[in-house]
Amino acid sequence: MNVTIREAVPEDIDRILSIDRDYSPVFSQAANYQRLTPPVGTVILAVLAQHICGFAACSRVLDEATLLNLVVEPRARGQGVARELLDALMDRLMASGVSRLMLEVRESNTAAQGLYVSTGFQRDGHRANYYPNQNGAAAEAALLMSRQLEIQHAGT
Ligand SMILES: CC(C)(COP(=O)(O)OP(=O)(O)OC[C@H]1O[C@@H](n2cnc3c(N)ncnc32)[C@H](O)[C@@H]1OP(=O)(O)O)[C@@H](O)C(=O)NCCC(=O)NCCS
Repeated sequence: MNVTIREAVPEDIDRILSIDRDYSPVFSQAANYQRLTPPVGTVILAVLAQHICGFAACSRVLDEATLLNLVVEPRARGQGVARELLDALMDRLMASGVSRLMLEVRESNTAAQGLYVSTGFQRDGHRANYYPNQNGAAAEAALLMSRQLEIQHAGT
């Protein structure tokens, strides 16, 4: 697998929304991604054979960041794309002085939890009824997870 990672540019918004639409229809609005430019946040893309197949988006406040979304299109899953995105995001955050990355994940989302545990995230808490009711389904709890990042100092 030969995935490359790059920063999103404004012209990528339609592709980001098309990947996100099925996964997070509530969050999937252009403004939610367009505001994520430094220093407020960042969006990075995974490109496979010149095709954008996934993205990661985070917000930042001082030395802490929150992973807002990480989605890989279904046909590109299971090849390490999400791991590449998460590693690249953490490298970029560390290089810019962020020392902690936090996230929320659905209690039922075992695939994402497997990814986060295998990349060093620890469970910090549990938030009942965090994800609102949708299409008649019951509200769902979130697991709160975080990971310390090692800040890279210039010259080290
Ligand atoms: C979760 C998601 C991003 C994983 O993307 P992916 O590119 O398939 O993941 P990777 O191939 O990089 O897998 C990395 C690790 O994640 C875990 N993982 C991925 N898919 C998994 C699955 N279906 N079941 C269990 N663990 C899984 C494994 O630990 C895996 O490592 P391994 O291959 O060495 O076992 C993808 O399934 C997705 O986009 N889901 C919908 C959106 C979503 O749930 N985002 C998370 C928001 S909190």
